Amino acid sequence: AQTVGRGPGGEVSVGGIGVRELAREFGTPAYVLDEADFRARCRAWREAFGPEADVFYAGKAFLCRAVVRWLREEGLNLDVCSGGELATALAAGMPPERIALHGNNKSPREIDRAVAAGVGRVVLDSVQEIERVAEAAARHGVRQRVQIRVTVGVEAHTHEFIATAHEDQKFGLALAGGAAADAVRRVLAEDSLELVGLHSHIGSQIFDLAGFEVSARRVVGLLAEIRDVHGRELPEIDLGGGLGIAYTADDDPSEPHEIAKTLRDIVARECEAAGLPVPRLSVEPGRAIAGPTAFTLYEVGTVKPLPGLRTYVSVDGGMSDNIRTALYDAEYAVALVSRASAAGPMLVRVVGKHCESGDIVVRDAYLPADTAPGDLIAVPATGAYCRSMASNYNHTPRPPVVAVAGGEARVIVRRETEEDLLRLDVG
Ligand code: LLP
Repeated sequence: AQTVGRGPGGEVSVGGIGVRELAREFGTPAYVLDEADFRARCRAWREAFGPEADVFYAGKAFLCRAVVRWLREEGLNLDVCSGGELATALAAGMPPERIALHGNNKSPREIDRAVAAGVGRVVLDSVQEIERVAEAAARHGVRQRVQIRVTVGVEAHTHEFIATAHEDQKFGLALAGGAAADAVRRVLAEDSLELVGLHSHIGSQIFDLAGFEVSARRVVGLLAEIRDVHGRELPEIDLGGGLGIAYTADDDPSEPHEIAKTLRDIVARECEAAGLPVPRLSVEPGRAIAGPTAFTLYEVGTVKPLPGLRTYVSVDGGMSDNIRTALYDAEYAVALVSRASAAGPMLVRVVGKHCESGDIVVRDAYLPADTAPGDLIAVPATGAYCRSMASNYNHTPRPPVVAVAGGEARVIVRRETEEDLLRLDVG
C-alpha cells in the first residue's frame, strides 16, 4: 500500500499508525486497508480512461458499504455478480444506473431485483437468461439495457481456474460456431431489451496486454457483423477486468494509463478499419484496484524448524482468510513488521492453524532467523479475493477489515464472533 513506512524501531506503520497499535486495538489476523491508496487507484483508473469511458469496479474482489461509498465519490461504476453484492451496492447508495449485473446463472430473484432497481446494465450470459431478463423487464414495464457476454476464444496466460475466454469453460456465448451471433438475433427480437453492447472478460491476473488486443479485435468483428446483418451499430463495448498486480517483487504490472491507451488504440483502429463509429469503452478492474491496498496482519504462534528442509512459521489465520495459495498456487511475500531484526534470512513456509497440510499462506519466503512467537508478520497485496473468499473452516470467525485514513483506523467490516457462527446453528 502507498502510505506504508518503517518507524525508528523498525516497526511498520500504515497511514501513520503502527502495526503493534493496530494489533492491540483490532486483534489479529486482520486485513488492514489503506483508504487513500484505494481512492488513489480509483482515480488513476478514472483519469486514465477519461470521460469517454466507464470504469466498473468488480465488486467480487472486495465489497462492503465503505467501498461502495468510495467508488461513488471517485466516479466509478460497480459490477456486481450476485444478489448479495447488489444488495450491498444499493444499501450504500450506489445509483442503480451505475451498476452492472453479471453472472452465468443469475437467479430469477436476482434478475427481478436488478431490473426493479433499475440497474444500468445486465450482462447476458446464456440463451435462457435472455428470456428471463426480457420477461422481468416486461413485467416491470421497462426496457432493460443489456450487453451480451461473448467468449472470444483467447487462451489467457494465467491459472486455469481464472481463465475465462477459451472455448471449454462455463462463461459467455461463443463467437466460434455462432452462439454469440444467435444471441444477438434473439435479444434484438425482444421488445423489452435494449442491446447496448458486447462484453468480453478473458481472465484474471494477466500481465500480457496482447490477450486484450485479440479480444477487442474479435468483439469489434462481431460489432461489424451485427451492423451488416441487422443494420445496427451498438454503442458500447466492455473489455472486462483481469489486469495483474504485483504479489511479489518478480511481478511487473502495467499502469492504468498504459492499459487505457492500449485498449483505446486497438478499439479505435479496429473500428476505423471496419467503418464503425468508436463505441463507448468500459472496463472492470477488481484486483488492480483493491489488491495492493491491503495487507493481512498475523501474529506468529509457533516456529518449527525442520532441519535440512525449512522452518514452518504458524500464524493465527490461514486458508480461511486467504485461500488463494491453496487454490491457485498463488505466490505471496511476507515481512516481519513489528520490529527490526539484524538476523540473517531463514527459509520459511508461512502456514495457518487449520487442520490440513495444504493450509499454506506463503509457500516459500524468507524471514529473519530470529522470528519468534509474538512477532507480527504481514502478507501484502491481500486486498482482493481474500476477505471476499474467506471461509469459516474449522469454525474460524472471519477477520475484520480495518481501514486506515488520515492517521485514524476504523473497522469497516467487523470481526466475526463465535456468537455470529452459533447464531446460524439453530438445531
Ligand atoms: N469482470 C468480470 C466479468 C469478471 O468475471 C471478473 C473476475 C472481473 C471483471 C474482475 O477481474 P479482476 O480485475 O479482479 O482480475 N478468485 C480469483 C479471481 C476470480 C476472478 C473472477 N472474475 C483469484 O483470487 O485470483
